[in-house]
Amino acid sequence: MKRFNINKISWDELDELRRPTPETTDFDRVVAGAVSRRGFLSGLVAFGSGAAVMGSGLLKGSTALAQGASRFAFTPIAAQTDFTVHVPDGYEWKTVASWGDPLFSDAPAFDPVTGTTVEGQARAFGENTDGMELFSIDGREVIAVNHEYANLDINLPQNDEGAPVSADDVRKIQDAQGVAVFEVTEGENGWEIVIDSPYNRRITHNTPMRIAGPAAGHDLLKTEADPTGTEALGTFNNCGAGRTPWGTYLTCEENFNGYFGSTEPAFERPEGFARYGIELESGYDYEKFDPRFDISKTPNEPNRAGYVVEIDPADASSTPVKRTALGRFKHENAEVTLAADNRVVVYLGDDERGEFLYRYVSNGTYEEGGDTSTLLDDGQLYVAKFHEDGTGEWLALTPEATGMDRAMIHIHTRQAASAVGATTMDRPEWVAVNPLKAEAYCALTNNKNRAVKPNAGGDETPATGPNPRAENNYGQIVRWRPAGEDHAADGFDWDLYVMAGNPEVHDDAYAGSGNVTPGNMFNSPDGMKFDSQGMLWIQTDGDDSNEDDFAGMGNNQMLCGDPETGEIARFMTGPNGAEVTGATFSTDRKTMFVGIQHPMNFPDADALPRSSIIAIRRTDGAVIG
Ligand code: FEO
Ligand code: CA
Ligand code: CA
Repeated sequence: MKRFNINKISWDELDELRRPTPETTDFDRVVAGAVSRRGFLSGLVAFGSGAAVMGSGLLKGSTALAQGASRFAFTPIAAQTDFTVHVPDGYEWKTVASWGDPLFSDAPAFDPVTGTTVEGQARAFGENTDGMELFSIDGREVIAVNHEYANLDINLPQNDEGAPVSADDVRKIQDAQGVAVFEVTEGENGWEIVIDSPYNRRITHNTPMRIAGPAAGHDLLKTEADPTGTEALGTFNNCGAGRTPWGTYLTCEENFNGYFGSTEPAFERPEGFARYGIELESGYDYEKFDPRFDISKTPNEPNRAGYVVEIDPADASSTPVKRTALGRFKHENAEVTLAADNRVVVYLGDDERGEFLYRYVSNGTYEEGGDTSTLLDDGQLYVAKFHEDGTGEWLALTPEATGMDRAMIHIHTRQAASAVGATTMDRPEWVAVNPLKAEAYCALTNNKNRAVKPNAGGDETPATGPNPRAENNYGQIVRWRPAGEDHAADGFDWDLYVMAGNPEVHDDAYAGSGNVTPGNMFNSPDGMKFDSQGMLWIQTDGDDSNEDDFAGMGNNQMLCGDPETGEIARFMTGPNGAEVTGATFSTDRKTMFVGIQHPMNFPDADALPRSSIIAIRRTDGAVIG
């Protein structure tokens, strides 16, 4: 099979290489109209209104930024191109956990040449750290973190191009992914893993889980091994994350399609597989050694993936639950907030070119100490429709609106959203809700197919609304304010918080919005997290070539945005080749934990590269966020 050197690119990019969206020749390239809209940042006009307006200079330069003292507690740093991490003066960083670090004393130490062992991998920290959350449990600090995907040539270094050649190889790769839950403590050497803590746990591609919600028990979820359609094994391609007010961790299954293949070349894929990119060849050869991943033998197995999974980090023996009420698609993260009446609201992005932004609203309300067991099962899923005039609405995915029954809406969610005419987006990555005011932000990372191709369902992708630029390689962050300051409201106002771009290379829409300057340039916003002060931390997963359209942007990075002024400042840069992903804070908020994914030469240049969590602190020990 054709192999890609996946340690050099993110899984998102790999997925597009494996199964590019079909070319179309009859799709008109749409030039955005010069439509003026109101923005939340008066004077900044930081939202897309088409090339004509953006080329007028309204969006260039930062002169429109609000006056007054900066709220940044650091001096912004320059772009970097080297293979390590940089933070501002007055801050320090240290590695906390890296791929292969034992979580239990029975796991062998990581070998810098051979990596992990098939017996030890499921007892050790996994590969490619992504979304994470820290929980304070009985006074102890417990991190739950995703291990999104594997890098075959790094994780199986003894194999030619990392190709699995045995069931053991496949098992080792399966065990390197999923989720890790582990306790950390801060000592003389900084933060470290507490080996053998009762909270420590690895969840892998083979961990038993329960399936709950509207799709549970449907015929399409039944297999020979699970005739009930309610007991799955494993969680896949765990990308972004979330946390509930009741202290559970949400892990989100993104590019799950890449694990399934067929040993029967003539196998005819079931309806719906194409929309989700489930092909006859997988990215990992699982199907050759594990019949569960062979769609010619177990055709319903892929229908049991693509969900948000709830995990109780306080109980290492608990069974994770796949919450099908939150829809089935390539989930980025799950940002939970509460409506005015305490119903649970979850914002959810589907990260693929031209796919959609979703919202779930529970029927029941959250009460502290009350029963939370069905709050993520019993509710309504919505999809976003953005209008040109700066307003938008949440369209309920009901049987009446979609022509599909309730279970099918939650199995073929993309098709349901297409049926109601949702707005095709520039790859929705993380959603973050401002803790200090009723507004939410979504990183639209990039979309080279905008105004070039329809999405995989044939929905057009005109360069309009919150996705205003054709062939958008830079990305933008859209935000919305719900009507009546209530996240359960059906209407909202929206604008663009920032359009990434390069004002040194372009003088049109691709220069970016007014809050992008030569000093803070970046591309492909992805991870986002608000801190307790209401500042928005923005992580990137983009082109770090530092050349041509991306000259001056340097490595992937983490920036801090002020929602009030629109100002954005570069706080951290990652190693070249890596993506900066996942962020959470210690309970005292004096440490920020940040993930380094798919590095090429980090943290030890003389050993196998290891995705890692680092801890960032102020040298004066003050609160960081
Ligand atoms: Fe796993 Fe869309 O990032
Ligand atoms: Ca991401
Ligand atoms: Ca990404």
